[in-house]
Amino acid sequence: MRLLVTGASGLLGLNLALETAGLHDVIGVCRRALASTPFESRQTDLLEAGAIGRVLEAVRPAAVVHCAAAADLDLCERYPEIARRINAEVPGQMASECSLRNIRLVHISTDAVFDGLKDGSYSETDEPRPGGVYATTKYAGEQAVLQANPYAIVARVNFYGWSLSGGRSLGEFFVENLSRGAAVRGFTDVTFCPTFVNDLVEALIRLLESELRGTYHVVGPEAMSKYEFGVAIARKFGYDESLISPQSVEEFGLAARRPHNLGLLTDKLSTDLGISLPDFSTGLDKFHQQFLRGFPQQIQSYQQASPAAIGKPGSSVSGLPREGS
Ligand SMILES: NC(=O)c1ccc[n+]([C@@H]2O[C@H](COP(=O)([O-])OP(=O)(O)OC[C@H]3O[C@@H](n4cnc5c(N)ncnc54)[C@H](OP(=O)(O)O)[C@@H]3O)[C@@H](O)[C@H]2O)c1
Repeated sequence: MRLLVTGASGLLGLNLALETAGLHDVIGVCRRALASTPFESRQTDLLEAGAIGRVLEAVRPAAVVHCAAAADLDLCERYPEIARRINAEVPGQMASECSLRNIRLVHISTDAVFDGLKDGSYSETDEPRPGGVYATTKYAGEQAVLQANPYAIVARVNFYGWSLSGGRSLGEFFVENLSRGAAVRGFTDVTFCPTFVNDLVEALIRLLESELRGTYHVVGPEAMSKYEFGVAIARKFGYDESLISPQSVEEFGLAARRPHNLGLLTDKLSTDLGISLPDFSTGLDKFHQQFLRGFPQQIQSYQQASPAAIGKPGSSVSGLPREGS
C-alpha cells in the first residue's frame, strides 16, 4: 500500500513511518527534512494554500494517516489562530481532498476532547466537552473530518514512545530525569490510558485496512494516573521511584487546563475490529526493550539539521510541556 504519513517528524508520525516502511510504500510529510530515514520524506508546510492537494496529487497514496498537529497544549493557548488552522482547518481540508480522490483516511485525534469530569471511562457515545484551545481545535478537526468524509476514521489516542527530539513523550520525560537522579513530579489526579506507540501503530494500520468508519477510541486497556505511570517506568528501568513526588496538577500552574479523568473505553474497537491493544505491562516492556537496543539514539539520528520552527505550535523543540505531560 502506498501510505502517506503527515507529521512524520512527530512522535507518532515518525514511529508509524519507521514501523511500516518495510511493509508499505511509505512517504512521510514534514515541514523540515529528516536525515536518512528508511522512508521517502517530503517537505511541506500543510498551512500553505493548496499544499494538501499538491502533495496528494504528487504522491497519489492509497491511504493517509494524518498525524500532523499543534500538539503542545500550552503553545496552543498562546497561538490559538495557528492551532485552529492546523488542528481544525487542515484536517477538514485533508478529509475533503482525500474524499475527492478516493483515498482512505485515518485522522488522529485525542482523548482530551473530553472534559475529564465523568465518573468512569468515556465511550464514543459520550458527548465531548473540550476545554482550552488544543482540545477545542482538535474536536473541531474531528467534526470537520467526518463532515467532509464520512468514510474516514477518527482515532482518539494517547501514547508514549521514543521521539526525534528525545523529549516528546511522557515516557521519555521520566526516563530522562530519573536516569540522572533528578527529582520530578507526577500528577496523581490526571488519569489516562497510556499506549505504547508501536502498539498504537499496529491498531491504526488494522483500522486503515478495514472498512470501518467514524470515531474510535484507540488506547491501552488500563487507566492510571501520570504518577503511577512514572512509578511503573521507574520500576521497569530500575530507577529510584522515590524521585517522583505525587502532586496535584492544579498546583502546577500550567497554561492549559488538563482534564482529570481521560479513561477511555475501547469496546467499540474490540467489537468492530476484533482486537484489543496489549496490556500496559506488555507495552512498557517493549518500550524498555527498545531502550536496551539503543532505539532512542537511532530515532534521534533522523533529526533535521536546522530547526526552522522553534516556538511554533507543533514544534518539537519548544521545550514546553506537551500533551502527555
Ligand atoms: N503525544 C500524545 O500523547 C498525544 C495524545 C493525544 C493525541 N495526540 C495526537 O496525536 C497526533 C500526533 O501527535 P504527536 O505527539 O506525534 O505530535 P508532535 O510530536 O508534536 O508532532 C506533530 C507533527 O506535526 C507536524 N506539523 C505541525 N505543523 C505542521 C504544518 N504546518 N505542516 C506540516 N507539518 C506540521 C510537526 O512538524 P515539525 O516537526 O516541523 O514541528 C510534527 O511532525 C496529533 O494529532 C496529536 O494531537 C497526541
